[in-house]
Order: sequence, then C-alpha cells, then structure tokens
Amino acid sequence: MKCRVCSHEISPFMSYGHMPIANGFLMPEQFKDEYFFELKPAFCPECLTFQIEEQPAPEMMFHENYAFFSRTSAHMQRHFKGYAEWVMVNHLRGDDAFVVELGSNDGIMLENFAKKGIRHLGVEPSANVAEVARQHGVNTLVRFFGAEVGADIAKEYGPASALMAANVMCHIPDMHGIAKGADALLSPDGVLIFEDPYLGAMIEKTSYDQIYDEHVYIFSALSVANMFSPYGFELIDLLKQETHGGSMRYVLARKGARMVAPSVAAILAEEKAAGLHLPETYEKFRQACEASKARIVRLLTEEKKAGRRVVGYGATSKSTTILNYCNIGPDLIEFISDTTPIKQGKFTPGMHIPVKPYTAFAENPPQTALLFAWNHKAEIMEKEKAFTTAGGKWLTHIEKD
Ligand code: TMP
Ligand code: ZN
Repeated sequence: MKCRVCSHEISPFMSYGHMPIANGFLMPEQFKDEYFFELKPAFCPECLTFQIEEQPAPEMMFHENYAFFSRTSAHMQRHFKGYAEWVMVNHLRGDDAFVVELGSNDGIMLENFAKKGIRHLGVEPSANVAEVARQHGVNTLVRFFGAEVGADIAKEYGPASALMAANVMCHIPDMHGIAKGADALLSPDGVLIFEDPYLGAMIEKTSYDQIYDEHVYIFSALSVANMFSPYGFELIDLLKQETHGGSMRYVLARKGARMVAPSVAAILAEEKAAGLHLPETYEKFRQACEASKARIVRLLTEEKKAGRRVVGYGATSKSTTILNYCNIGPDLIEFISDTTPIKQGKFTPGMHIPVKPYTAFAENPPQTALLFAWNHKAEIMEKEKAFTTAGGKWLTHIEKD
C-alpha cells in the first residue's frame, strides 16, 4: 500500500481480521447483508503517520442513520464548553471573529459560540445530527469539508479566525484536502485547532480499540507537523487531553504568524523518547495487542465457567474492534447496556450481541461488567457506586495482569 499522506510504499504491521462498520448497530434481518472489511494498521517510517490500510466508503459510516450524538454525555458537554472557552480566550483576536468547525456533530461545541453571538459555521456531513445542531441555534452546512468547501465558505463568509475540529480530523483520509481547505479559509493569523485520540496514549495503554473504520489515522505531533508543513503551517501549541482515553489538541498557524509555545518542543521530544517514530515500536504494540486479546478471552471464559453473568457497559464504536478481533459474542457477554436510544434493541456489529437500555443493567445487574466505555470511567464509577459496593466486578481490556 501507499502511505495516505506521503505516498511512500508501506505495509501493515498486523491485522485485526474482518471487521464490520464500527457504529453499524443492526437488526437480525440485516445480518445477512452486513458489510465487512479487513482492519489492518500501518505505520509510515517516512512521514511517521499511523493509519489503516483499508477504510469503508464514508457513505457507509456517516449517513442519515449515523448513531453518534456527542450530546448524550454530560462529561463531553463540559469538555466542549471548556474547549470553546479556551479558543475564545486564547485564539480569537478582534471583534469580528468567525469560527468554523468541521464535523460539528450535534452542535455540542459551536453552541457555546452561538450563545455568545460569535459568527460561526458548522460543517457536518450527517444530516440527522446537523438537524439537532440547528435546533440548538448552530448554523450548519451539510457537507464533507475539503479544499473546495474551505474556499466556498471563505467566499461567502470571509476568512476564518479559527478552523476547529474534535474527534473528526482522524476520520478524514484526504489530509491534503483539509490542509488546502484550511489554507483557503483561514485569515493570515488564523489558527487550525483539532483534537483526536493520541497515538502516544494508545501505544502506552495498548488501547487498540481506538483503531476502527472511522479512525483512518491516529495522530502524533510528529506526524501532524509533517502533514501540514508542505502547506505552510507549523505547530504552535500542543495540549494533552483526558478525553477518549487520551487525546491531543494540536494548534497550527501559518509559519511565523504566531508564537510557538514551549509545549511543542517538549512533546516532540517526548514522542521520540517513546519511539513513536520507530517501526519497532509498532511491532511491540502488535505483541501487546495479542497479549491483551489472550487475557480478555481467558477472563471472560473463566467467568462463564464459574457461572457468573457478564454484561458489557457502553456499546461504544471502539468495542467493535475488541469484540471482533477477540471473537467475543453473546456466549461470553449476555448483552451490552447503553444509554443511546438509537442503539437499544439492536445488535452489535459483527458479533451480534444484543444492546439493551441502561435499565436492563440497573434492574438485573450481572456479577461482572466489561467496561467498553473505559474512557468515561470516572463518570461511570461515580454513577455505579451501588453496583461496585454490592460486589460487582469491573473488567477492561486495557488492564494488564
Ligand atoms: P464514546 O466512547 O464514543 O463517547 O461512546 C460512549 C458510548 O457509551 C455511547 O454509546 C453511550 C455509552 N455510555 C453509556 O451507556 N453509559 C454511560 O454512562 C456513558 C458515559 C456512556
Ligand atoms: Zn507517509
């Protein structure tokens, strides 16, 4: 395969096997037509980008029935309020600021700008989530962002002070289109700010469930710097985030336009110390994934033998990688409880474990819960004190014995 960013010839370092659409929760009558592809991660030693080889067409993942609404988590609402305020304080200059968010989802971040009367525009390809954003007063365009859309927006609204994204950039295969779009859209001192699951955290934790169809890239500061440099952008700040089990916020500006914070050199050095630029790191990661798989299958099998009921907590997109890679089905996990109405009553992609409303967990608690929403652990532990104090056991795939 060719590297998606620099076209260097590369090859995947492992395979997670056949994978369905991670967010493709489905009904039994749809089982026979379920789409599968092979999930294979690769690392490019040239531009240092971590990527997946094959990605299903965007239309298969982001459509009118797209099940992901950011708004369902109170924790994420707080996070985005903080993100928005940080942008306002640190990066908006002058009183005619104009901010654009790509992949603005249900408007969870932009509503913070809308409420302050700041000119804004969301760009969101899923019509159903865009509609929810509009209901919250967020001006939203239903399109996929790219070179052309960036230029179109600049023509209609003028240059943007900030182009932002959260958990979206890593979904977009054509980074060149994004960079060109940013170049066309941003004012001379405009900033490009995005945050995504962080490669450094994934390697450290063996949280391989970050790898699924939507995440075509898992970025590092090293790879982001290489990606945007040809378009005249440089990193000016880096901020680690707790969200999604470890994310990074990247801030870029046109070279020389803004001061470069000390965090940039510090984190680049940290990444080199962790070997994120070396192929052998990914060979070690492969071995760690295999060990994680063996462990979780062993633990679930032991629970079953001991007659202990196991229920999954949170039917996350990420869990699709774990379940299908480890071949865990309804024989090992009775059902998965989830608070998202659109997933309830359906079955998980590939392994077809029933998804039930949260009430099913609360009313008939199992002996053991496998926490798929491990990135929301603090919030969930707070909520589930009763289960834990009654002797309920928690498992996650990222712990090591
Ligand atoms: P995310 O990790 O992509 O944000 O997805 C979280 C999923 O977990 C989403 O489907 C909602 C579900 N969830 C619960 O069922 N209960 C909870 O307490 C939390 C925080 C999430
Ligand atoms: Zn490359």
